[in-house]
Amino acid sequence: MKTTPIIVALDYPDERSAMALVRQLDPSLCRLKVGKQLFTAAGPRWVEQLVKLGFPVFLDLKFHDIPTTVGLACKAAADLGVWMMNVHALGGGAMLRAAREGLGDVADRPLLIAVTLLTSMGETEMHEIGLNGTPQEAVLRLGRLTQASGLDGVVCSAQEATMLKRELGAQFNLVTPGIRPASAALGDQQRVMTPMAALAAGADYLVIGRPITHAPNPLQALLAIHQEITQGKTA
Ligand code: C5P
Repeated sequence: MKTTPIIVALDYPDERSAMALVRQLDPSLCRLKVGKQLFTAAGPRWVEQLVKLGFPVFLDLKFHDIPTTVGLACKAAADLGVWMMNVHALGGGAMLRAAREGLGDVADRPLLIAVTLLTSMGETEMHEIGLNGTPQEAVLRLGRLTQASGLDGVVCSAQEATMLKRELGAQFNLVTPGIRPASAALGDQQRVMTPMAALAAGADYLVIGRPITHAPNPLQALLAIHQEITQGKTA
């Protein structure tokens, strides 16, 4: 396989514990996701170190602010050399366009994706903040807005992937968490899919945390998923 769709979620409290895992991994096998907790603890210089080690890094900070602030924050994130970053689609069209403009048009700019509706929000929570319709309708509406604003894709549940690929086209990247190999524990994820099923449904990238980070042998767990995907692709 030329590039790997696996993004390992580095959900650790500090760089020391994250590095203990990273040292066992190889950039040909996975990409890395750095979220709010680790970024706040370890900082941008440490993210640059990960990039220098050769890993494509997804900076998962989900910016949501006025357009000018988000545009400048996206530029600062791009300057770290990350491969992918994200914002909240609920920030609106002007904010999404400013985020995209913040990255400029250089060929090696990071991919910019949006979170549509947090998967922690159901219809009740949507109505609380004045959003009408079902979560699926909101996901599609915000996915369309994201695409029309020039972004490269969305974070979505694997259950939404087939519908979003059909509606938004093959080039629009779908990044899916909630992935569990058949043998792994669910943890607090309710609606999960195996790596192969998620790819078959249309996911382009798979965010995988605990099935790798909490495994007794994380490298072995990653290799098993990698093998499953590679064999599935050539089957
Ligand atoms: O450990 P697990 O595989 O459940 O980790 C999934 C990762 O994806 C975590 O970093 C989590 O914050 C993130 N995520 C998620 N569900 C979403 C969006 C992000 O689980 N809807």
